[in-house]
Amino acid sequence: MSEEPKTRNTPYTTNNAGIPVESDEHSLTVGADGPILLQDHYLIEKMAQFNRERVPERVVHAKGSGAYGTFKVTNDVSQFTKADLFQPGKQTAMLARFSTVAGEQGSPDTWRDPRGFALKFYTEQGNYDMVGNNTPVFFVRDPMKFQDFIRSQKRRPDSAVRDHDMQWDFWSLSPESAHMVTWLMGDRGIPKTYRHMNGYSSHTYMWVNAGGERFWVKYRFKTDQGIDFYTQDEADRMAGVDGDVHRRDLFEAIKRGDHPSWTLYVQVMPFDDAPDYRFNPFDLTKVWPHGDYPEIEVGRMTLNENPEDFFVHIEQASFEPSNLVPGIGPSPDKMLLGRLFSYPDTHRYRIGPNYAQLPPNRPRFGRNSYAKDGPMRYEPSRTGAVYAPNSYGGPAADTERYGDPAGWATAGEMVHEAYKLHSEDDDWGQAGTMVRKVLDDAARERLVGNISGHLLDGVSAPVLERSLQYWRNVDKDLGDRIAKKVDGG
Ligand code: NDP
Ligand code: HEM
Repeated sequence: MSEEPKTRNTPYTTNNAGIPVESDEHSLTVGADGPILLQDHYLIEKMAQFNRERVPERVVHAKGSGAYGTFKVTNDVSQFTKADLFQPGKQTAMLARFSTVAGEQGSPDTWRDPRGFALKFYTEQGNYDMVGNNTPVFFVRDPMKFQDFIRSQKRRPDSAVRDHDMQWDFWSLSPESAHMVTWLMGDRGIPKTYRHMNGYSSHTYMWVNAGGERFWVKYRFKTDQGIDFYTQDEADRMAGVDGDVHRRDLFEAIKRGDHPSWTLYVQVMPFDDAPDYRFNPFDLTKVWPHGDYPEIEVGRMTLNENPEDFFVHIEQASFEPSNLVPGIGPSPDKMLLGRLFSYPDTHRYRIGPNYAQLPPNRPRFGRNSYAKDGPMRYEPSRTGAVYAPNSYGGPAADTERYGDPAGWATAGEMVHEAYKLHSEDDDWGQAGTMVRKVLDDAARERLVGNISGHLLDGVSAPVLERSLQYWRNVDKDLGDRIAKKVDGG
């Protein structure tokens, strides 16, 4: 028997085909106590839909939060780039997603980890994605090592628990990680909220101005809320009290109208400085000291709209460093070049080949792609003809862009080799500078405590020995202090 709707002004529940259903609560049975009938299509639809509610979580950066907002240009940087979104006075709609890296969807927000800082700008020249982290550097400098690095941070194959021995084994065998691990073990390794951290492109990108002149740039989105962090003890406690504290904070701040913002600055390097710069400017384990390339303000990003539906807008959001618009290009950073392949590939697997049609991913201005068909395609082909070239008025490529420099001149033998060293390149120097010149005594003391606490948690003797040497290489005094603490001093 069908139920009475609770109130007459409540709409009827429908099935996915829009047909009113007879019951929200009772399956169709033969008599009240009898067997369930296969012809109860609505029951079957509910069970089948439920069984398919998940898409695979992101292989990294699985736990995250996001919101929509706007980016407004506040300074004239048109002498460096012709990108539409960076032209004077321009305002561009955007989406941001922040995340932890190693943890799964249900993991606590306050685990020590870098934070993802992924941005999608809906520009008039197509979607521009800036997929960065809250760190200016990274653990490795060649994409060949990324998968190994991530496996050392995730769970063991036997016990399925995370293992500090694996982490320190990989780090201490990979000295290029020292700068990033110093950063990670410092205060900024556990931000207080997503609103209280900076975002960095980390990579160097190429900017091209209207005259075809090229520049190398690094982006830094500096929080207007101020930097704030949790100590290790506070973070450990918070992981038990509220594992979703960062997710909750971002959503609630936006809901109450407290819209977080970040000011974008760039460091700009003249194109011809790169070969002789004292550090390899494309090495992802290095920063460009501010004294060499000062920050230039570009604009402000403000997040002001929560997603109506988390799954639709944030879980299905698909960021890809290969989404580069005219005026912005890649640099010879090998990590960046590796990433250009990886992201669209994982989206095709995680979401499906038509992921670019979904609300968070579809461009908001002119989409004239000849892409066609495939699972879950719902946008009709509107190109007139389904092939190019055609004589039926279909879109044609912007051949005027032939003039744009697509990259940089290169030639040489094919080799498997590390970057050539620049005059001041080494693995320890910039990490040591941070320890000695950027941190104050209290921050250094917390660094010693964080590292020794981490090392005391299940790290085997040979790995511990190598890790102590690793820290002495960063800074002798720091290494000695960590060793003393590990010895119970
Ligand atoms: P500066 O003194 O000009 O810059 C130091 C920068 O360090 C600050 O601007 C700030 O970056 C960042 N910083 C401050 N406190 C911390 C912290 N607790 N943890 C991590 N970063 C912090 O010196 P240099 O430019 O010569 O850089 C010196 C060292 O500072 C580098 O070797 C690097 O380790 C570190 N650093 C440098 C950055 C750069 O782009 N030059 C960026 C971040 C760190 P911000 O302004 O971005 O908040
Ligand atoms: C997510 C690969 C390095 C920032 C991802 C994902 C993959 C991946 C496969 C999952 C994407 C998804 O399912 O949507 C790689 C590879 C790297 C690399 C192969 C090195 C070669 C980096 C670096 C940064 C970074 C250096 C930052 C500078 C991010 C962010 C996300 C992400 C922010 C989450 C994006 C989101 O919010 O959806 N990465 N990554 N990655 N990566 Fe990387």
